[in-house]
Amino acid sequence: MNRAMQFGLAILVCAAKASAADTAGIPDAGRQQELIDLLRQDCGACHGLYLTGGLGPALRPQDLHGKPAESLSEVILRGRPGTPMPGWQAFITAGEAGWMVERLLKGLPDDR
Ligand code: HEC
Repeated sequence: MNRAMQFGLAILVCAAKASAADTAGIPDAGRQQELIDLLRQDCGACHGLYLTGGLGPALRPQDLHGKPAESLSEVILRGRPGTPMPGWQAFITAGEAGWMVERLLKGLPDDR
């Protein structure tokens, strides 16, 4: 089973537990940690563990500076057709994608 599948299963379990939670707003602390882990591990597989780039471009604040948050969220949710960038809308809500973009623009806690 690959990481994406494991993550998908984890989400199903979480979604079942938190079905009444407001998923459109700011994710709760536990979910925030999951999203940070997702950024490091799943996104990091292509964008680099420290998001300094790999198969995909670097995603540090200085790399994303000036790009509209809205369109970055769109890329995360829908992917970029014709490129290896997959869409993540099966795993995260639009609100969560927006929160992830905010985090990327601020920089992850231990970025180098
Ligand atoms: C299978 C590899 C792969 C994975 C996994 C991946 N990406 Fe990407 N991503 C890419 C590639 C390649 C591009 C560049 C697409 C292009 O050529 O426009 C990209 C582009 C992007 C962009 C647009 C960057 C810009 O400067 O316009 C963002 C934002 C992004 N990815 C975020 C993410 C996030 C967040 C995740 C995890 C939820 C993720 N990516 C997972 C390969 C990947």
